[in-house]
Amino acid sequence: GMKQRLLVVANRLPVSANRRGEDQWSLEISAGGLVSALLGVKDVDAKWIGWAGVNVPDEVGQRALTRALAEKRCIPVFLDEEIVHQYYNGYCNNILWPLFHYLGLPQEDRLATTRNFESQFNAYKRANQMFADVVYQHYQEGDVIWCHDYHLMFLPKCLKDHDINMKVGWFLHTPFPSSEIYRTLPSRSELLRSVLCADLVGFHTYDYARHFVSACTRILGLEGTPEGVEDQGRLTRVAAFPIGIDSERFKRALELPAVKRHISELTQRFAGRKVMLGVDRLDMIKGIPQKILAFEKFLEENHEWNDKVVLLQIAVPTRTDVPECMSPFCALSPIYTLCDSTSMSAGVPQMHEVHEIVGRINGRFGTLTAVPIHHLDRSLDFHALCALYAVTDVALVTSLRDGMNLVSYEYVACQGSKKGVLILSEFAGAAQSLGAGAILVNPWNITEVADSIKHALTMSSDEREKRHRHNYAHVTTHTAQDWAETFVCELNETVAEAQLRI
Ligand code: UDP
Ligand code: G6P
Repeated sequence: GMKQRLLVVANRLPVSANRRGEDQWSLEISAGGLVSALLGVKDVDAKWIGWAGVNVPDEVGQRALTRALAEKRCIPVFLDEEIVHQYYNGYCNNILWPLFHYLGLPQEDRLATTRNFESQFNAYKRANQMFADVVYQHYQEGDVIWCHDYHLMFLPKCLKDHDINMKVGWFLHTPFPSSEIYRTLPSRSELLRSVLCADLVGFHTYDYARHFVSACTRILGLEGTPEGVEDQGRLTRVAAFPIGIDSERFKRALELPAVKRHISELTQRFAGRKVMLGVDRLDMIKGIPQKILAFEKFLEENHEWNDKVVLLQIAVPTRTDVPECMSPFCALSPIYTLCDSTSMSAGVPQMHEVHEIVGRINGRFGTLTAVPIHHLDRSLDFHALCALYAVTDVALVTSLRDGMNLVSYEYVACQGSKKGVLILSEFAGAAQSLGAGAILVNPWNITEVADSIKHALTMSSDEREKRHRHNYAHVTTHTAQDWAETFVCELNETVAEAQLRI
């Protein structure tokens, strides 16, 4: 029979556009775990609907971009600056993102955020309706519509209101917090009800799914069952679908001459030193300052290591228009009182703060010929990233909260020959799948992280191999492909079962 069509709807398209002329666009791959995972899904007849990351006010530009994106099977949703400001910067990234990661509302701007709440929530609903309008234009009967992430919690309702027979799934790429946190959200009930319009609701881990179900029972008074949430005889199926990566893509890359060249350059450059790696979007949830402070503590306590170890930290710029107090230091308080957002310059405040501690540590522990931390404020191309993953001895993931964290998976996939050590935050979803092979840490406890760094650097090769084998087996068998197939299959089954019930 005919292959089922899949419409993937996510705020961020897998390619972002840059304008080169009136009707000229260049496209580049977008950063982030959602895009990486979905790019690893092959052999399905999928189309993407989402935002290309730019404001295109004119029709000539919109038409040209629509054409350019069509070649990548992408369909744009055009959002103007005001909507982006209120929906993306405001409601999504200043309210939902910190709340879902247990950071509460931004410290500095609490009252402003409270005051703006309603207009931002209205913009959020309007934006979701704009995504829905584009879905209607491209929908054919029988299509599966897969909505992604916290940006689109209102979308399942828009779609079902339009056509109750659409097959709608929704998947969250972040944690879903405990209902004690979630219930502080002013729009808590409306958002839950709208997500429940989907046929299938998915999360990375069982804990997140359980949190969601208990939010529905406590806040909406609905019945939670092992299958999901029931409302007047209608079931919304809720389940865990842990995401994965396309590990073969990484292994293939390591065989390319260009990547091999890169690997040998890096090996030469850092000869005689152990190399530790961090790769994160520069986001407060990633715990970058905590990581660097732990590394400082390690250097303080282990002088013999001072010129024998280096930390490479790649900090990919992200969401640069979200208010300043989204600083990674805010997450340090109340232990540290470094959250003085007035001293940060506009634009990329987090960057300046991280630079400050990196500078201090390099000044303190550097020599004439070497510094302990190499910090880069930019993204890397895929090949450079693979080479880094392959040559480093230790990867350091210190997220304060993280839906899954695919960087940890990618590191493991590239360590087939080196068998390096993964130090992983227990607050990343990945701790539940890679916990057996990684050294798990509480990123808030920098003494524990410093000790783990020492453990990782001095680990016997036996122990390293044993730990690596565990994680490698997981990463290579739980792929992005399996994740997507399982979700879509479960969605089809859920819809079929619901029809039998009637
Ligand atoms: N990544 C990227 N560009 C870079 C560095 C990393 O696109 O310069 C990718 C990385 O390969 C990974 C993703 O960004 O697939 C980050 O995903 P993760 O789940 O670790 O965190 P998220 O950014 O989604 O919070
Ligand atoms: C996280 C979110 C994704 C998002 C990505 C990058 O992974 O779950 O939905 O695409 O970060 O963030 P951005 O705001 O640039 O899309």
